[in-house]
Amino acid sequence: MIQEELGTSAPQDIGEVDISKLAGFDGLVVGAPTWNTGADEGRSGTAWDDVLNSISGLRLSGKHVAVYGLGDSIGYGDYYCDAMEEIYRHFEKAGAKMIGHWPTDGYQHAESKAILENGKFCGLALDQDNEDDLTEERVKAWAKQLKSEGL
Ligand SMILES: Cc1cc2nc3c(=O)[nH]c(=O)nc-3n(C[C@H](O)[C@H](O)[C@H](O)COP(=O)(O)O)c2cc1C
Repeated sequence: MIQEELGTSAPQDIGEVDISKLAGFDGLVVGAPTWNTGADEGRSGTAWDDVLNSISGLRLSGKHVAVYGLGDSIGYGDYYCDAMEEIYRHFEKAGAKMIGHWPTDGYQHAESKAILENGKFCGLALDQDNEDDLTEERVKAWAKQLKSEGL
């Protein structure tokens, strides 16, 4: 859905991507579920956990990067979309220009590591388990925001 809205190239599984080639893209939209509940590191429980250290060592200076997270704000309401922030920090360390911060209005979680000091999510939080009726409008509005932020 995000790819359709943005008109970007087809999504790829991060486990199949040559990390050293990430610097070659004009911009990146990256996302993950949170499956490793409550973890500080390796929060996603996917191939992302194996590549984060390589990513923070890249030189992505000024490259636009946006993150999204997939989670369950009721069943795992104290850890909602936690993996999104771990990914965000590693791209930020690589010097990327992080875009796509997103307001928390209308969400049902109790706690989330993905909320920044400015009170916003570090990227788009999606909950297809409890709020699938909101996904399309969230994605459309976020895609519009990313374009206005220069993606
Ligand atoms: C074992 C397990 C742990 C999960 N832990 C979290 C969590 O800590 N935070 C969260 O937001 N969602 C959590 N979820 C929900 C998943 O992130 C959510 O179901 C997933 O993004 C949707 O994709 P799926 O349908 O492929 O599972 C967890 C799901 C499972 C099965």
